[in-house]
Amino acid sequence: MSYASETRRRRTFAIISHPDAGKTTLTEKLLLFSGAIQIAGAVKGRKASRHATSDWMEIEKQRGISVASSVMQMSYRDHVINLLDTPGHKDFSEDTYRVLTAVDSALMVIDAANGVEAQTRRLIEVCRQRDTPIITFVNKMDREVRDPLDILDEVERELGMPCCPITWPVGQGKSFGGIINLRTQTMTVFTPGSDRGPKDFEVVPLAEADRLRKRFGQPFDDALESMELAVGASAAWNHEDFLAGKLTPVFFGSGVNNFGVMEVLDAVVDMSPPPGPRISTLLVNKQPVVKTVQPEDKGFAGVVFKVQANMDANHRDRIAFVRVASGRYQPGMKLKVQRTGKELRPTSVVTFMSQRREAVEEAYAGDIIGFTTHGGVQLGDTITDGANLQFTGLPFFAPELFMTVILKNPLRTKQLQQGLAQLGEEGAIQVFKPDVGGPMLLGAVGQLQFEVVQHRLRAEYDADVRLEGCQYTGARWITANSPAELRAFTDAYPMRLSHDAANALAFLCTSPYDVRLAQERFPEIQFHPLREHA
Ligand code: G4P
Repeated sequence: MSYASETRRRRTFAIISHPDAGKTTLTEKLLLFSGAIQIAGAVKGRKASRHATSDWMEIEKQRGISVASSVMQMSYRDHVINLLDTPGHKDFSEDTYRVLTAVDSALMVIDAANGVEAQTRRLIEVCRQRDTPIITFVNKMDREVRDPLDILDEVERELGMPCCPITWPVGQGKSFGGIINLRTQTMTVFTPGSDRGPKDFEVVPLAEADRLRKRFGQPFDDALESMELAVGASAAWNHEDFLAGKLTPVFFGSGVNNFGVMEVLDAVVDMSPPPGPRISTLLVNKQPVVKTVQPEDKGFAGVVFKVQANMDANHRDRIAFVRVASGRYQPGMKLKVQRTGKELRPTSVVTFMSQRREAVEEAYAGDIIGFTTHGGVQLGDTITDGANLQFTGLPFFAPELFMTVILKNPLRTKQLQQGLAQLGEEGAIQVFKPDVGGPMLLGAVGQLQFEVVQHRLRAEYDADVRLEGCQYTGARWITANSPAELRAFTDAYPMRLSHDAANALAFLCTSPYDVRLAQERFPEIQFHPLREHA
């Protein structure tokens, strides 16, 4: 198969939701229906066994939240589907944002009783910024939930884009009778249970309305009526609008009962886009050289969107998750890290199947592969088979919470430094080294990040630390148009300057006024709340 046809049959999407909406359940059912796993319970099981394999993941178990995001590949209808899970807890939202840079579409799961919840809202914002197409799945229709018209209305408002219902529920909770497929004009009858395959559900044409009415009673008539209202009030299906992130198709179902899931899997194949072009911006003599990289281009290129410590405590290596942007990866290939110009010599290169990692035989644009290394790769790195390219757009957000790191045993300084450098490169936390010296500062977006880092420093680097509060409440990355301007600024604020893990200059603030005042004093200096890896 040509590179172009390989990339055309790939779908790479993230599944996003507020905790408890049913993301894990739906993921499992998608894997089940694609044949990637044979029995239900495997993903939940994996959740549990993952804890057992690594100490620091204890935290995850204790809190019942998912710290790390993971990747699963499956094949379905001659397509290769890469599903990226995202941590639901808001304290790890940075990790999620980065995962969203690696996908071409998103599947949003919402709980039909709760509607669009806080964490989903934040994720939607990121998708909106990137115009990521979103498919909506309204879950838990087997429970007493809200009126579907109400939910549709809320999704429209929260997403700021029209909805287009593709399936429509008949009843809910005890009276949940099934879903009407608006395209095929059929009703798929709901039967509870988690053993059913996609073809095991009864399908009745809507033309047999009398039969359906007799069987489902008033909820059926109500459904027809509300469906008509919904269709009248919502947008007609327009594929271009969906691809542009301007319209979301909406599906109803019940993940735990395998119901309405097949429709979503088919939508991923039929509606979601294959990998698209990516922009490389390389600085040559300080001038940006912009190049559009097409997925079917011959040269291999990819970007590191996540780095994770090996979950096996006996190995100190790390896995760099790379989203392939173009070309084909094959074992034995010579690879280069653009930032350092150095050759990357991974100890292994893996692909992520539903329950296991396997050595990669080949990978194309859209696929996610994991390079196991002992260092030399950072978040945001571009890896190629030789060409000079630099993909941008991996976001780092200015932290809002800061702590000073105090080492309990000063003899462990080297271990602490190594630990902080690696955790900083992983993006688990942001590390700032004050220019005037003194203890390192940790910056986080969510409080839990501190706890994970403290735990990991002890467990993985044998560095016991105490974290103390400090006066800082924000940071801004600093750039200037001329070295003279920058010098004037750094001379004025020596005590406020620091460098982060990527050696970027940051200004530490104690209140929002700090930035405003500094900006008024130095109008030519740029204060960035977000750093994109470049
Ligand atoms: P998450 O990954 O988004 O956090 O959610 P998860 O799939 O773990 O689901 C959260 C809870 O919601 C689970 O119940 C799950 O069984 C339930 N659930 C998921 N889909 C449906 C559905 O369609 N209908 C109903 N009624 N419940 C659903 P739990 O009690 O927390 O866990 P468990 O003991 O059932 O596994």
